[in-house]
Amino acid sequence: MGKDTLSITDNRTGQSYEVPITDGTISAMALRKIKVDDADFGLMTYDPAFMNTASCRSSITYIDGDKGILRYRGYPVDQLADHASYLEVAYLILNGELPTQPQLDDFTRDVTIHTFVHENLRSFIDGFRYDAHPMGMLVATVGALSTFYPEAKHVMDAEIRRKQIVRLIAKMPTIAAWSFRHSVGMPFVYPDNELSYSENFLAMLKRIGNPRYRVHKEIVRALDVLFILHADHEQNCSTNTMRAIGSSRADPYVAVAGAAAALYGPLHGGANEAVLRMLREIGTVSNIPPFVREVKSGVGSRLMGFGHRVYKNYDPRARVIKHLAHKVFELVGKKSPLLDVALELEKIALSDDYFVSRKLYPNVDFYSGLIYEALEIPVDMFPVMFAIPRVVGWLAQWEEMLLDSEQKIARPRQIYTGSEERAFTPIDQR
Ligand code: CMC
Repeated sequence: MGKDTLSITDNRTGQSYEVPITDGTISAMALRKIKVDDADFGLMTYDPAFMNTASCRSSITYIDGDKGILRYRGYPVDQLADHASYLEVAYLILNGELPTQPQLDDFTRDVTIHTFVHENLRSFIDGFRYDAHPMGMLVATVGALSTFYPEAKHVMDAEIRRKQIVRLIAKMPTIAAWSFRHSVGMPFVYPDNELSYSENFLAMLKRIGNPRYRVHKEIVRALDVLFILHADHEQNCSTNTMRAIGSSRADPYVAVAGAAAALYGPLHGGANEAVLRMLREIGTVSNIPPFVREVKSGVGSRLMGFGHRVYKNYDPRARVIKHLAHKVFELVGKKSPLLDVALELEKIALSDDYFVSRKLYPNVDFYSGLIYEALEIPVDMFPVMFAIPRVVGWLAQWEEMLLDSEQKIARPRQIYTGSEERAFTPIDQR
């Protein structure tokens, strides 16, 4: 085994440099000393979309895309999905260790007593148009929380930071449910602090008339598992947004609003909504071959719910979700007619050379939409369902970023491709 360094020869000058390799990485700043002369700024890397750039050190989530591994703080996600509750996993992600029973009780109590929102948020949500998309409402309302908690701007104060983290985890389901109720013209349901995190969310979403919302405990468990699977996913688009906004020391409410906005896009958290719309458009198994032909020709859309920037193997979350989907269909006593389309589509795609050669496997969003549909949650709510648990990942990553002495305000460089300097032309001479 040789030295952990990289030797670089700059053929413009003939000079050689030795750059340390740490954790399979060279520091981009180490390249800055490679210059043609003293006036030169120094060599930069060019990496649009961060295809090959580590932007931070993180001890939260580990993914090995080639092997299909996803772990939170070292624990495989399928083990957590089998044995832990969502709030237990939230505690783990935030604190690095699984809670003891008293720690979990304290955390659960803390989250539970913060589920109510300021009454003015009711009128804020009421101000949206009758047909507003719940994700747009969620983004705006979470951002508005910043105005209710001005102390949140003291982001370097550990106690204040932790208080906002609990508030955000607690209030996301309330805001999410109210956004939905507004979009369907139904009265808001206040949180019920006797219920668990997931059951309370379902009650705020669904309760009509009855003083109590009753739901099979296995359905509540299924929602908990979905929340666990979506809790964090290291440096994805929305988490990177959270870190970037947070790096300017903005408060966590506006940073979460920005992260949620990034999640809304159809290539990220909006994909589960796009999957269901795609399955509906395909409609029947017999329409799959022409649809797949169109995808492959590049004329049609992409196969939504397939492919991932890091998983070049089966997404481990998709495996758990596929199993969960069947369980939920049994419990609700009906199978989505779209399940057959999804299963056949998956079968064809996994044996088609186009998808096989590009390592395009089903991702977490391929099946989650079918479960939400079985729970009679409308498609507009799908990205919202993703945002509720992902807030834990965003907040843990945000706190990690703030405490990381190597981090500064996020500010990439660019390669300028515009005009050279030119003189201003008055408007009447253009
Ligand atoms: N259907 C058809 N072709 C695809 C797909 C797809 N879903 N995804 C990638 N490709 C092709 C792409 O056209 C390209 O082909 P070629 O090499 O011939 O140009 C090749 O595969 C590589 O694609 P890419 O765009 O370079 O891959 P990426 O890593 O930049 O994109 C992705 C990852 C998730 C954006 C992409 O696979 C995609 O658009 N998938 C559909 C949307 C989706 O399901 N998103 C949810 C992601 S999981 C939830 C989350 O974490 O947000």
